[in-house]
Amino acid sequence: MGARIIDGKARAVRIREKVAAEVARLGADHGLVPGLAVVLVGEDPASQVYVRNKARQTAESGMRSFEHRLPGATSEKELLDLVARLNADSAVHGILVQLPLPAHIDAARVIDAIDPDKDVDGFHVVNAGRLMVGFEGMVPCTPLGCLVLLRDVMDDVSGAEAVVVGRSNIVGKPMAQLLLRENATVTIAHSRTRDLPAVCRRADILVAAVGRPEMIRGDWIKPGAVVIDVGINRVPAPERGEGKSRLVGDVAFAEAAEVAGAITPVPGGVGPMTIACLLANTVTAACRIHGLPVPADLLSG
Ligand code: GUN
Repeated sequence: MGARIIDGKARAVRIREKVAAEVARLGADHGLVPGLAVVLVGEDPASQVYVRNKARQTAESGMRSFEHRLPGATSEKELLDLVARLNADSAVHGILVQLPLPAHIDAARVIDAIDPDKDVDGFHVVNAGRLMVGFEGMVPCTPLGCLVLLRDVMDDVSGAEAVVVGRSNIVGKPMAQLLLRENATVTIAHSRTRDLPAVCRRADILVAAVGRPEMIRGDWIKPGAVVIDVGINRVPAPERGEGKSRLVGDVAFAEAAEVAGAITPVPGGVGPMTIACLLANTVTAACRIHGLPVPADLLSG
């Protein structure tokens, strides 16, 4: 194994420490306590774990955490009414509606109802537009976390060939925009891309966000490339015992680590960075809402 393993877990701890210090300072200097409201509709087990972790880490950082757990039968109107109340609540600076939502609720309509300045997920079209044109806005947490890890291991992203595999609104598209903002030459590849292995082999920076276990093989990687694996896929692991499973990324880690210059593991790579960036985004939102300077170094090394 030749690649440097990028430790997202340790990096996330450092961000959370900086967030906690900044929250303490905002409280002492301005009497401001940032607040994050997390809304979960239904009983999806994975979402319940995510929401619990988000709420716990929010409280641990000294911020206010407002958890709204609604039954799966909640109507779209009831959810929109809750979002309107959170928009108007001055103790709430960040609003996150956990996805996926039940099928009878139009997620796009709900995201559209969130005040863009409290949209700490960065999913609102206004924030997508701000990112695209280079205005200040809220940047989606997972791509933001990927960029932090990338910057840690690359002195200069400018001019590098970056390939993002996956074109979701949550990861692939904002990731491409962030890389473009860093002056990378960006390709977005997807399920219809012809000769995907050859496209990946061009990449100095390869971001995998397709949701297909170990799809990207070692011989798709350019020697020395930085590989950022966003995938979190649970696969059967009979070698660990009957009914056992394990987590793998979208990249075949062992193969890729032989070739890459640096690579994120799964778990322990991008995953922990998402909540850390969510906390940082909540501090940023609170500062902007109160007209205070946004702390510049929450995400820096
Ligand atoms: N579901 C899976 N990831 C996310 C996320 O980052 N934000 C929200 N709101 N829902 C999710």
